[in-house]
Amino acid sequence: MLWSLWFGIVAALLSRTVTAAANAIYQDPDTGLVFSSNYALYKVDKGITFRVAIPSDVQTYTSYDAVVQVVAPNDVGWVGIAWAGSMPRNPLLVAWRNTNNQVVLSSRWANGHITPNTYAGAQYTLFKTGTKSNGTHWQYTALCKGCTSWTTDTGASRYLSPRGGNRLAFAYSPGRPSSPNSATSSIPIHEVHGYWQHDFSGAANSNFETTVERLSV
Ligand code: HEM
Ligand SMILES: *[C@@H]1O[C@H](CO)[C@@H](O)[C@H](O)[C@H]1NC(C)=O
Repeated sequence: MLWSLWFGIVAALLSRTVTAAANAIYQDPDTGLVFSSNYALYKVDKGITFRVAIPSDVQTYTSYDAVVQVVAPNDVGWVGIAWAGSMPRNPLLVAWRNTNNQVVLSSRWANGHITPNTYAGAQYTLFKTGTKSNGTHWQYTALCKGCTSWTTDTGASRYLSPRGGNRLAFAYSPGRPSSPNSATSSIPIHEVHGYWQHDFSGAANSNFETTVERLSV
């Protein structure tokens, strides 16, 4: 009786510290967008939040814009997102902070498990709104054109589903890039990577275009 109570308390404490609801719907007070939100651990007790917002009126098998929002603890040197859930041959978004504490976004592509090159097929626009930091975390919000569709080396087109789950991956490094003020800096290899299934159906916004227009000025 006492033991089961004790285990119940420990289990409750553990689950409170290490889990957050998968694909939680997050109504962002800063941008006004609705995001589908996931939390991935990079240490036993520390995680990074990854959020995606998309338009509601998109067809499957088309390329569509997305807004991505990432919340990272201050000990994160760089954090990457692989839009098709593995390192090679898909758009990679790498983010870090420069020497002025400003977020730098870098679009990359890797043809294997080797240092990624810059990638012109995806363009990221950092929004002032939703990009901020405090004593514990830094966060960025950005528009991406070209993250939801890309071309494989055989010339085939790949698309992320705007309706269901897409496997995404992240990579984390405690170290910043060697030239943090340059988006084309070389970057140190990650210490941790992980995967999750990101539900894009919960990320739909009927006011996506007008909101993005407002955030872009
Ligand atoms: C900075 C240069 C980078 C180097 C040298 C590098 C190298 C590697 C290597 C050697 C592996 C295989 C590790 C293993 O199998 O245990 C790997 C795996 C992985 N890397 Fe990178 N990486 C780099 C950047 C990135 C970036 C920017 C991302 C963006 C998200 C990323 C995402 C991943 C993922 C998700 C894996 C797991 C295997 C997979 O799903 O493909 N890497 N990387
Ligand atoms: C610090 O900033 C992060 C990211 O914006 C936010 O989630 C967190 O609530 C903030 N913490 C405090 C104490 O304001």
